Order: sequence, then structure tokens, then C-alpha cells
Amino acid sequence: MDSKWIIETNGLGKVFDEVEVIKDCSMHVKQGTIYGFLGMNGAGKTTVFKMLTSLLTPTSGTAKVMGIDITSRSNEVLRNIGSIIETPIFHEHLSAAENLRVHLAYMNKENVDIDKTLEMVGLSSMNTKPVSTFSLGMRQRLGIARAIIHQPKLLILDEPLNGLDPMGIREMRDLFLSLVKNKGMTILISSHILTDIEQIADTIGIIANGRIIDEVSMAQIKSKTSNDSLEEYFFQKMKEELEYA
Ligand SMILES: Nc1ncnc2c1ncn2[C@@H]1O[C@H](COP(=O)(O)OP(=O)(O)OP(=O)(O)O)[C@@H](O)[C@H]1O
Ligand SMILES: [Mg+2]
Repeated sequence: MDSKWIIETNGLGKVFDEVEVIKDCSMHVKQGTIYGFLGMNGAGKTTVFKMLTSLLTPTSGTAKVMGIDITSRSNEVLRNIGSIIETPIFHEHLSAAENLRVHLAYMNKENVDIDKTLEMVGLSSMNTKPVSTFSLGMRQRLGIARAIIHQPKLLILDEPLNGLDPMGIREMRDLFLSLVKNKGMTILISSHILTDIEQIADTIGIIANGRIIDEVSMAQIKSKTSNDSLEEYFFQKMKEELEYA
């Protein structure tokens, strides 16, 4: 891969039932950084994430992940992505560790420390209960474990902090930062909790009505707002968008 962009989309579009849900979406995610993807309900975040992970086929435009066109559905690329998209689905009758074992077999990975990964996300490796008994937060933690356990180069996390308690949110923020710093991963993350994104993101992308309306560094946002606030910046952009529409 020559480019510094681990994700690069150009004029990406998606039509559902003759409605253009994603329009001319151009985004640029730099390797080794955290990119916070923001937008109101229905703006198109999950749809973009699904196209990037080959769960949906774009209607127009191009997207490259690790330099490879996503429509090629390259196994090499897909093996190097870890993702949580909407609500993670598990084998309900299996334990957390067994779910991870199934995932690793599917990913063709061996010699991975399952217990260590469970502990990294705050789940006990001693818990052999089936996932059907898990709370929302425990399921989310297991989803994060599954996204990271095969040590992908790129994490695509759609609202991964949903349902976590305050301690869990802090632990996951620290985990994401350490994965980038110590394992060289790149993270594309969406969340409606702007204070969480503010604390970890290097770059912010804002999507409104299916269009990327802004791509800006967190440092620039801090220099542009009176109280260094991503929330203030985001509301200002949404206001401009409404006036423009
Ligand atoms: N399979 C589908 N068929 C038809 N329309 C869809 C489909 N999936 C998504 N949409 C529409 O696409 C638009 C974008 O939805 P998407 O789920 O990508 O938004 P989002 O930004 O992830 O929102 P949220 O913050 O609520 O998760 C919405 O108008 C939604 O109704
Ligand atoms: Mg969504």
C-alpha cells in the first residue's frame, strides 16, 4: 500500500429503493490514527461502514481499504479488519471463549491468547455461561473482543460504547488508544457521545444527509472553538447544514 490512507473513498454512493442514502461520500482515514465519524440518526454512518466491510455493495463511486478496491471483496483485506456493526450477533448457546474460538477458526488464526483478550475487555475468562445470559454491556465487550482478537490492522467500530457503564467506557477508550499506540492499529469509530470521541480521535469526519460535510483534525477543532469543544463544533456544523439545506 503506497498511500498514507488506510481508507480512501471517492464519490461513494448508495441507493436504497430509489432513494440516494449516501451521496458523493469522500473520506480519508490515515494509517495509525483514530477517525471519529459523526452524524445524526439516519445520516448514513452504518451504511458507509457496511460498504467498507463488504456487507453492502456501493451503487456508485470507489472505495479503497488498504489500497484495495472494496468491491473485490479481498479476503486479505477482510481478514485485516475487525468490526462491530450495529448489534453484534453471537452463537447464543456458546460461551464467550467458545465464540472467540469459532471466530479465530473462521479467520484462520492460531495461537491466540483468548483469555488475555477477554481480560482486556473486562470479561472473566472463568465465565463459561452461554452468551444468551449476558447483559447488554457484556455483549458489547465480547463484540469488542471479537473485533480485536485476530489483531487486525483496521478496526471499524459502529457505536462500540453503547450499553457500557462509565468504567467500561473509560477502559475501552484506553484500550483503543493503546491498540493504536502499541499495536499500530487504525480505528474508524462512530458514536453519539461526543465527549468520548473528543478524547480519543485525531480526525473527525461529519456526515449529514449522506454527504461528508467536513473532515478536520481534532487540533483544528480545538483551535476553532472557544472551549475546545467538539460538541460546540458539531452543533455549529449542523446549524450551517440546516441553513444551507
Ligand atoms: N436496508 C435498507 N433499506 C432501505 N433504507 C435503508 C437501509 N439501511 C439504511 N437505510 C436508510 O439509510 C439511511 C441511513 O441509515 P444508517 O443506518 O446508515 O444511518 P446512521 O447514520 O447509522 O444512523 P444511526 O445514528 O441512527 O445509527 C436512513 O435513512 C435509513 O433509513
Ligand atoms: Mg447507525
